[in-house]
Amino acid sequence: MDSIIVTGNGHLNGQIPIAGAKNACLTLMPATLLSEEPLTLTNAPRLSDIRTMAALLQSLGAEVSQLQSGRVLAMSSAALSNHVADYDIVRKMRASILVLGPMLARDGHAIVSLPGGCAIGARPVDLHLRALEAMGAELDLREGYVHAKAPGGLRGGVFEFPIVSVGATENALMAATMAKGTTVLKNVAREPEIVDLATCLRRMGAQIEGDGTGTITVQGVDRLHGATHPVVPDRIELGTYMLAPAICGGEVECLGGRIDLVGAFCEKLQEAGIDVTETGNGLTVSRRNGRVSAVDVATRPFPGFPTDLQAQMMALMCTAEGTSVLEERIFENRFMHAPELVRMGARIDVQGGTATVTGVDRLKGAPVMATDLRASVSLILAGLAAEGETIVNRVYHLDRGYESVEEKLGNVGAKIERISGQ
Ligand code: UD1
Repeated sequence: MDSIIVTGNGHLNGQIPIAGAKNACLTLMPATLLSEEPLTLTNAPRLSDIRTMAALLQSLGAEVSQLQSGRVLAMSSAALSNHVADYDIVRKMRASILVLGPMLARDGHAIVSLPGGCAIGARPVDLHLRALEAMGAELDLREGYVHAKAPGGLRGGVFEFPIVSVGATENALMAATMAKGTTVLKNVAREPEIVDLATCLRRMGAQIEGDGTGTITVQGVDRLHGATHPVVPDRIELGTYMLAPAICGGEVECLGGRIDLVGAFCEKLQEAGIDVTETGNGLTVSRRNGRVSAVDVATRPFPGFPTDLQAQMMALMCTAEGTSVLEERIFENRFMHAPELVRMGARIDVQGGTATVTGVDRLKGAPVMATDLRASVSLILAGLAAEGETIVNRVYHLDRGYESVEEKLGNVGAKIERISGQ
């Protein structure tokens, strides 16, 4: 297993290009299953999760070609040869459940393995299933698989999500595009990835209104056609790299960054004393002097502060002046990075879903263990600000969601290298 070694090296200066969003791409790819015509995605990120989704789609009979070194995904699902998403692939990546809605909408049947638990909590898929049932799907859970049928095809329905779920909104939205009649989805997620999916589906001929608000209305159509769609920039990668100069000092321009993607996060950075400015090419972040101030953060669905930036924000708060309270309201077990940060000299007290962080002058490098995707990058950020060497072990998590992290940070002056393991 590879490790990453980071050595605290002072200010960072330069530019970091932001890739297309992993989470958007993971829901745009299954949309290919809705049409017999080709779907091409540009600005795709080069990540292991994308390769996993490509393998899943291929196992169902779709053709997936990665062109321009993986930047372009050319997909075609003329006919599906298999309607079973196998446990071996689904267990690697929860987003695999997103093939359920499209397969059911197109061919009226699908069998998809249940994803099971994961490091950051139980993460059930009950809402995905209930939304599909509201469109007439007949579901049977047997031996770890969802057996789904819609013999006469899906039909429009009304479903109000009891809690906001990004994935369940995506699955329901894709299914609704080809359901007969009108579907109204209430209390839906408003994340930019949902708007990106709706935009792509409209390009394919779907009739969707209200994405980006709490209610989405879909008029079902008989068929969707091919399209080409650019993947929205990755707001989590953006936020992560905006934190690099915030933690280390210096000035970094995140190319392709947009304030509308990270509004609540920017407000917190500014409250902490970090400058964020829009340039013609992206967002520039600078911290010129002194320590940042402690700020309180509570994660919420978009447009609130994203849970996927909580670990990285905690890394910043570890060296802030004062005490900050970080509340995790989306996932029940998402503070696994806290004990690792404590190994680096941070002062963190976790009680249930709340972490109280008292800033220290300087963190100290240590060997640490990455437990999930966002936790791994928070340890890298902490290592950049620490005295001495930090070795982050188990970085395979990182490769699921961050492309060329050593190169991107190395280019702005960070001392970071990957050590290949067995
Ligand atoms: C997506 C993102 C993930 C991000 C999360 C929240 C992808 C591939 N992943 O995950 O990076 O952290 O949104 O912004 O896009 N829930 C249920 N039942 C369900 C579905 C969800 O109870 O059927 C709960 C979850 O356990 C969680 C909350 O709803 O507590 C929100 O989860 P959800 O928005 O669905 O997250 P994902 O779509 O899995």
